[in-house]
Amino acid sequence: MSTPAQEQVFGRAPSGPTAARAEGLTKAYGSGETQVLALDSVDAEIARGRFTAIMGPSGSGKSTLMHCLAGLDNVTRGQVWIGEHEITSLNERELTRLRRDKVGFVFQSFNLLPTLTAGENITLPMDIAGRKPDQEWVDTVIDTLGLRDRLRHRPAQLSGGQQQRVACARALASRPELIFADEPTGNLDSRSGEEVLAFLRRAVDELHQTVVMVTHDPGAAARADLVLFLADGRIVDEMPNPTAEAVLDRMKRFDRIRET
Ligand SMILES: Nc1ncnc2c1ncn2[C@@H]1O[C@H](COP(=O)(O)OP(=O)(O)OP(=O)(O)O)[C@@H](O)[C@H]1O
Ligand SMILES: [Mg+2]
Repeated sequence: MSTPAQEQVFGRAPSGPTAARAEGLTKAYGSGETQVLALDSVDAEIARGRFTAIMGPSGSGKSTLMHCLAGLDNVTRGQVWIGEHEITSLNERELTRLRRDKVGFVFQSFNLLPTLTAGENITLPMDIAGRKPDQEWVDTVIDTLGLRDRLRHRPAQLSGGQQQRVACARALASRPELIFADEPTGNLDSRSGEEVLAFLRRAVDELHQTVVMVTHDPGAAARADLVLFLADGRIVDEMPNPTAEAVLDRMKRFDRIRET
């Protein structure tokens, strides 16, 4: 494993384009004595066509990093690029368009609209954009995620795992270049979790999409090409070609630091 050096940019691919990039990314919530520094000068690159996992203790800034990289949250300092576009300089309209065209996001809290059915939630982003869904692809997504017989149900009529799968389907339905998934298997039984992971892996291997996934599960992280480790708002380590055992060992070192 690499030793973190001051000037190291984590996640940097040996060569090749980046799907998203952050430079000196700092995100503070609140002000004065109650200010929380969720991200502290993060430099990171997300390689295009690769599967990157983000791990770290609760509160380390994983969701914040994903939201900032996806252009869903404004940054306090620093710069963020999606592909060639420096998003911190875009206006709201340009950013919305870029996000709509390139980014799919699976939220940790699902963010499904309660008044719409599962099926309507899945195609909502495309309906808003006035874009016709590729029905064959949407069907593949729905069947792979096992949602065919739940399409007419509203979120409140679905289990947590089913809602999570609807949230995944919504992010994948428009086949975006860049998919962010915040603990997409957190509420799933092992079989559904495995199906979601296999689907994300396939999106990268066969469809050349880029996936960034937050997870607490070493087994899930082992499906990625690279794991970035966050602690206290900084990327402190990375692990290419992870195995579940190696990831678990690395996570235990966080626990030890916490206990001392
Ligand atoms: N809207 C907010 N207002 C104030 N503080 C926030 C807000 N969102 C996040 N934070 C704080 O920023 C820090 C990072 O939060 P974040 O949600 O990114 O953590 P995380 O690594 O995703 O944790 P978890 O594994 O529990 O999801 C935390 O200390 C959190 O309390
Ligand atoms: Mg989170």
